[in-house]
Amino acid sequence: MDRWSAFFELVETRRSIRRFEDKEVEEEKIRKILEALRLAPSSSNSQPWHVVVVRDKEVISALSKAAPVGSRFVISWMSGAPLVFVLTVRRKLTHRVARAFGHANLWLDAGIAGEHLVLAAQALGFGTCWIGWFSERKVRKLVGLTKAHEVVALIPCGYPAEEPEPRPRKSLEEIFSVERFGGSGGMDEIS
Ligand SMILES: Cc1cc2nc3c(=O)[nH]c(=O)nc-3n(C[C@H](O)[C@H](O)[C@H](O)COP(=O)(O)O)c2cc1C
Repeated sequence: MDRWSAFFELVETRRSIRRFEDKEVEEEKIRKILEALRLAPSSSNSQPWHVVVVRDKEVISALSKAAPVGSRFVISWMSGAPLVFVLTVRRKLTHRVARAFGHANLWLDAGIAGEHLVLAAQALGFGTCWIGWFSERKVRKLVGLTKAHEVVALIPCGYPAEEPEPRPRKSLEEIFSVERFGGSGGMDEIS
């Protein structure tokens, strides 16, 4: 395997995992996953993130019910996860300035960091799933967030108990152009 193949294998085999084995996530592996998040790049090196690691079964069960009214089924499966990372951010001055110029850097920072966590978990043999469908108010209360922090996502994590088929993706041609929007720049002739 050449130096970078492991990365491509990682992204090609990652799936959203919604069923987990009844087995806990070892503490040193939790630390390794968080270490990958710690190393993520961020705008002005602001590192606005804070992750709450939830292993308490009762809190996980409550989180799995913390969906907006009438849509519990979207995240109810999360009750079977042995661990949930609650990814939060705290807006810094640089984010306020960037936002004034139309840049959503806070959410970019959070997304990059979250995906570092997801891929690190995958590299260590765990399955995860990004959860964006939750009631901010309910989650804040359950994990005791300060007013300054916002919840970005819940990321349940555990040893996978399913092997889902890949979800469909757009073709490569549909997601890029060359030099100008819609232009091929002759790249289609190369492949
Ligand atoms: C920001 C974000 C929010 C998501 N929210 C949810 C969610 O609330 N519930 C859920 O079951 N899956 C959620 N997903 C998982 C997506 O449905 C999944 O990534 C997508 O269908 C592609 O499948 P794959 O991850 O297996 O490749 C979310 C994914 C992302 C990136």
